[in-house]
Amino acid sequence: MKFTRREILKLSSAAALSPACLLAQDEEPGLTQLSGIRLEPFVDPLPVPRIVKPVSGAAGSQHYRITLSEFRQKVHRDLPPTILWGFNGAMPGPTITANRSQTVTIDWVNNLPLRHRLAVDHNLDGAGKNVPEVRSVIHLHGGHVASSSDGNPEDWISPGHTQHTVYPNNQPAATLWYHDHAMGITRLNAIMGLAGFYIIRDPEEDRLRLPSGPYDIPLVIQDRIFDARGQLAYPVGPMSDSPWVPEFFGTTILVNGRVSPFLDVEPRRYRFRFLNASNARVYQLSLVPGQPLVQIGTDGGLLSAPAQRRALLLVPGERVDAVVDFSGREGRHITLMNNARAPYPSGGGLIPRLVMQFRVRRPLTSRLDSSEVPPRLAQVTPLREEIAVKTRRLTLQEDPAANGRLLLNGLRYMDPVTEDPVNGSIEIWEIANTTIDTHPIHLHAVHFQLLDRRRFDVARQRRTSEIVFTRRTIPAPPEEHGWKDIVLCPPAHVTRIIVPFHGEPGRFVWHCHMLEHEDNEMMRPFLLRP
Ligand code: C2O
Ligand code: CU
Ligand code: CU
Repeated sequence: MKFTRREILKLSSAAALSPACLLAQDEEPGLTQLSGIRLEPFVDPLPVPRIVKPVSGAAGSQHYRITLSEFRQKVHRDLPPTILWGFNGAMPGPTITANRSQTVTIDWVNNLPLRHRLAVDHNLDGAGKNVPEVRSVIHLHGGHVASSSDGNPEDWISPGHTQHTVYPNNQPAATLWYHDHAMGITRLNAIMGLAGFYIIRDPEEDRLRLPSGPYDIPLVIQDRIFDARGQLAYPVGPMSDSPWVPEFFGTTILVNGRVSPFLDVEPRRYRFRFLNASNARVYQLSLVPGQPLVQIGTDGGLLSAPAQRRALLLVPGERVDAVVDFSGREGRHITLMNNARAPYPSGGGLIPRLVMQFRVRRPLTSRLDSSEVPPRLAQVTPLREEIAVKTRRLTLQEDPAANGRLLLNGLRYMDPVTEDPVNGSIEIWEIANTTIDTHPIHLHAVHFQLLDRRRFDVARQRRTSEIVFTRRTIPAPPEEHGWKDIVLCPPAHVTRIIVPFHGEPGRFVWHCHMLEHEDNEMMRPFLLRP
């Protein structure tokens, strides 16, 4: 039997869901979708992940010991505690902070149970019955690290073992994050909760007087489905023995591990570090009543200049740093709303809209807000196309041979390496998306710049495999002018990025950050050659 991705999505059901959990009528007629329990928004205060302390720290380097385990944690006032996986007993895990050029070493101790809570699909590459059901390997997303510390999907460990990583932090101040990357089960480990922030600071950023301390707050946005007992649900596909589903779209939004929470704020500027750590959902975030968001940073650090945004678009894995000014808004309740369709940009799935609420009801602690957003933030020199030594054309495509599966360049993960940039060289990657959905493409070990996007004729490409452009080139907008490690690749467009490959030679991966895609072949190795 043969299904398309959309058909599998429609036919998926929740194996583990209690009867009290409803199947709701979806916004697309005829489509039944798992919706989970309805919960009152804005009744829980926003938690801010605590900053983890090193177990030892000589000058210039710090050592941490962080334990992965299962525990119960409240996610909403009206739910009993949820069984989750996390770090040092918290979901999201504690925030790690590092100073530029100071080495951080971490022991990641896997104390997880031996059985997975969610249905493992043993048909997926690397998740067969011949390997332990529960495995973990932590990847520092956005980190410039050696291959041996990168958290390669095949370098997993099983419960009872410890992964050692070395992070040199030789890169500008930025919002990074750590998360599990285990081959074939990343999507399930992510739903259970294995993610946290990793923030790099540097003196250049400190000099800018951006909102800091209690006014610099990381916000990780994730979608989930909860049953009436407050437990996580994840759908399974229609084919027996093959639980994999093409995308997970939750109906409840968590910010920092709480269902649509609220935050009491002072009438002043705040810096929010938004991270979309959802498996597949894209968010388009705006404030209601309307209020500008001033974007100051992206994946790899600060932009060269602030960008005024009405809405922030965040694909899975992506970060946006933005400053919001609540001065003059005393007494107001300002809601952070999402209105991105799922799958993005044209799907008809349920859209959870209420992300969180800001309540401007605390008095100013200091007499004046002395923070500012200067017109120049960081030095980001645009890379010129002429200096690239190689251009690669890479396609995102459906796999004609398998149900709902997607491929990079027509190849599977285990196929021999085809992307093998030379260390120190600059390449242009032209990513041609031949599918109907957006894919967030992520490269390990490096940061890159977006050049432009351009629409092409997909039907023609399918017939003749040549790319014929049908519209004019769309240059990168100001908010995408910084250093990126993930890029939104819209359907029927070629997205061009320019990538300086530098670091310690070795094997890394590039992949779609929709975790269901990544787990099922939309990931490829790349070799950084000496
Ligand atoms: Cu966020 Cu390959 O990772
Ligand atoms: Cu990464
Ligand atoms: Cu994808």
